[in-house]
Amino acid sequence: MENHRPFLVLLFFAFALGFIAVVFVLRWVLHFREGLAWDGGAKEFNWHPLLAVTGFIFLQGIAIVVYRLPWTWKCSKLMMKFIHAGLNVLAFILAVISLVAVFDFHNVQNIPNMYSLHSWVGLAAVILFSLQIVLGVCIFLLPVSPGYVRAAFMPIHVFSGLFIFTTVIATALMGITEKLIFGLTGPKYKDSPPEATFVNVLGLLITVFGALILWIATRASWKRPSEQLLHTLHSNEPQSVGTKTDTAMSERPDPEPNSEARRRNGKTEE
Ligand code: HEM
Ligand code: HEM
Repeated sequence: MENHRPFLVLLFFAFALGFIAVVFVLRWVLHFREGLAWDGGAKEFNWHPLLAVTGFIFLQGIAIVVYRLPWTWKCSKLMMKFIHAGLNVLAFILAVISLVAVFDFHNVQNIPNMYSLHSWVGLAAVILFSLQIVLGVCIFLLPVSPGYVRAAFMPIHVFSGLFIFTTVIATALMGITEKLIFGLTGPKYKDSPPEATFVNVLGLLITVFGALILWIATRASWKRPSEQLLHTLHSNEPQSVGTKTDTAMSERPDPEPNSEARRRNGKTEE
């Protein structure tokens, strides 16, 4: 891999910031807010930010970069597809539970549903995410779609995946701001009480986590090599493998390097 060290440093920071964001949201609901319960009250609402940040942001971010981890390149592509799809499905389940919590809370408290921009963008993101999973499974996982369909759909899949991820982060920032405005009454948000500062930092952590994931996922030179290339390298003698990997990986100008080989030999590697 080209620039191996910067990749590992960014990956480490992304993982650490994402994990700290989860700890922050947990501390927010447990220490500054009412805690957690499924009782139709404020404690039930608190599942909403906790599961949204843990599942829909942290897990989704990890799912996006999972193909990029060099130590997984010896695993088969099929296995990596299951891991990528599985993490995304888990993220989706947690997002749905987080929505059930907030809708139930609103219904019990007689608060109207779906009035805010946060809720519109958030629900749209969840619907698009479910569509992404269905199309991803049908096109890349089930052995029914021909190679050219997979190749043609890949750029759409990558773009929509990154778009949904970015939208989810924007949704979370809106939700956090709303909650601070609604929840802080004395002292108010504008008076910068400790909770406001703490949760503003949570928003920053989420934003930087998102930026790092987007950066990692858009570096062409950090992509998983094509199956053809991996196969060739694995069948070579051990001492030449390292050099060949570096050269081959760094000489790929095409951001979708797998697709050309696939088009030529009709193989379906995605
Ligand atoms: C409400 C989605 C994250 C705070 C809602 C609603 C949806 C939604 C669809 C409407 C529920 C209803 O009308 O009954 C999402 C998604 C998130 C997310 C997809 C993924 C990141 C967050 C976060 C917070 C938050 C991190 C921070 C506390 C709120 C608040 C409401 C709400 C205060 C009630 C007010 C309103 O409807 O806008 N959310 N949310 N959300 N959410 Fe989120
Ligand atoms: C690649 C997002 C579900 C199969 C990607 C990439 C993103 C992404 C952003 C580009 C990663 C990179 O370039 O390193 C998502 C999201 C999903 C989802 C947000 C869920 C909503 C699925 C599912 C499958 C799938 C269910 C089925 C197997 C793939 C494949 C790649 C890919 C094969 C190509 C990896 C490569 O060789 O670079 N996905 N994906 N995705 N995804 Fe998904």
